[in-house]
Amino acid sequence: MNTTPSPEKNDAARIDALIEAHRHRSGALLPLLHAVQDALGCIPADAVPRIATALNLSRAEVHGVVSYYHHFRSEPAGRHVVQVCRAEACQACGADELLAQAEALLGCKSHSTRGDGAVTLEPVYCLGLCASSPAVQIDEKLHARVTPAKLQRLAQALEIAR
Ligand code: FES
Repeated sequence: MNTTPSPEKNDAARIDALIEAHRHRSGALLPLLHAVQDALGCIPADAVPRIATALNLSRAEVHGVVSYYHHFRSEPAGRHVVQVCRAEACQACGADELLAQAEALLGCKSHSTRGDGAVTLEPVYCLGLCASSPAVQIDEKLHARVTPAKLQRLAQALEIAR
């Protein structure tokens, strides 16, 4: 008989352990959500009611926080995450055109993960490089003054360009 727990059971156990570790902190919700996403790569839908019950919040409150902050995901990201800043300074320096170019270059709509799971494309709102706009973050690395040619080079280096 196979006694290996299913991935879903493992995830549920990990979520419960993280809830237990955070539930008694004041302002536990955000640190707990960060911990769950760090552990699982996203906030699975079934984590929301568990977290709500543990913190004595409504599901709507927890869901509202997950959906309000762009950082939190309900689905796992692709193997690479490309974030194009669309905040004011970057917008003034061509961020909208850069995001459109990224969609075409990666074959992936904004706010989505490409079908092969290779890349997720996300707009973000300020990466802290406003003086060197437009800015892009790819995985954990920031890139300043990103031109279309530079974005293409970066995507090709990661083999995520279409
Ligand atoms: S506005 Fe884009 S990095 Fe700040």
